[in-house]
Amino acid sequence: MKHPENAESPASFSFDDSPIARELADLTARRRVLEDVSVRLSGRTRVITVSNQKGGVGKTTTTVNIAASLVAVGARVLVIDLDPQGNASTALGVPHTADIPSIYDVLIDDFPIADIVQTSPESPDLLCAPSTIHLAGAEIELVSQVAREHRLRTALDDYLANLQERLDFVLIDCPPSLGLLTINAFAAAHELLIPIQCEYYALEGLSQLLGTVRMIQKHLNPRLKLSTILLTMYDGRTRLAQQVAEEVRTHFPEEVLATVIPRSVRVSEAPSFGQTVIAYDGHSAGAIAYREAAVEIIRRDRPDAGANDHGHADAPANEGGS
Ligand SMILES: Nc1ncnc2c1ncn2[C@@H]1O[C@H](COP(=O)(O)OP(=O)(O)OP(=O)(O)O)[C@@H](O)[C@H]1O
Ligand SMILES: [Mg+2]
Repeated sequence: MKHPENAESPASFSFDDSPIARELADLTARRRVLEDVSVRLSGRTRVITVSNQKGGVGKTTTTVNIAASLVAVGARVLVIDLDPQGNASTALGVPHTADIPSIYDVLIDDFPIADIVQTSPESPDLLCAPSTIHLAGAEIELVSQVAREHRLRTALDDYLANLQERLDFVLIDCPPSLGLLTINAFAAAHELLIPIQCEYYALEGLSQLLGTVRMIQKHLNPRLKLSTILLTMYDGRTRLAQQVAEEVRTHFPEEVLATVIPRSVRVSEAPSFGQTVIAYDGHSAGAIAYREAAVEIIRRDRPDAGANDHGHADAPANEGGS
């Protein structure tokens, strides 16, 4: 598409050379690749907790959009909303008012997870165990419970063992703290996904988080593995974002996904429509990046990245598709 001929404009100007045109062409090419992508799911249920005690780094946004992206390539996914704010439930369009049975009832009153799971209007393969405001009291109520660190794991093991249709992924959205709710998530998971926001304080608090993970591995859950780091809210126009990304990659060369999630208005708008960005605007830069990240997560699965405690011990390891 050429700029209209105009005596006043420089003869060499072409819209094709503008940064916006290049970005659009890039997005179109990446979308085409995603349309043809084929992935092979592992045959196991991978339980991934999305955690970072820093607030507002993109935990919930990552949980719901990776979940929807995994569903888009054929996976069946459960999102467990473990944050009293209930943002993941909202983004998945799942009711979570105070009267609705929720993950609180699972943790405190021994409800089976099957009794609280809802289906997101986005897809029959996208399930959600919602959180309600009651969960705000659970940190304190859990303190006096028997096996207080293992309550989610026990409930999840029971749920997964009795499912008619196997899940490919369980994603757990954690609150911004290292309290008992997050510890329950660490105890229940095979893998840890840490979203890191590309800003100045990005690495602050990370050593505390990793220290907690080491304690969990030692005392509660030896199978837990830091499998994935995802750089979020990346603004490539700033040197700071580039520097932070480089620094994180230097520290964690194995764990950081090649895909980075750009800062994108469509990503932040989607939850107000009770949707993931995949449903809200699947052609946007944020949606395409999350879909690419999900494909990486499927392909990077390693047989040792989580024991087969959920009854699929002899399933073949994922070998990544084309
Ligand atoms: N890629 C993005 N582009 C633009 N805005 C984003 C992006 N990712 C997240 N946001 C916005 O940043 C804010 C924080 O994101 P989010 O709620 O996912 O973080 P969080 O880590 O779950 O927060 P909390 O610690 O409170 O649970 C939200 O308003 C969200 O819409
Ligand atoms: Mg959140």
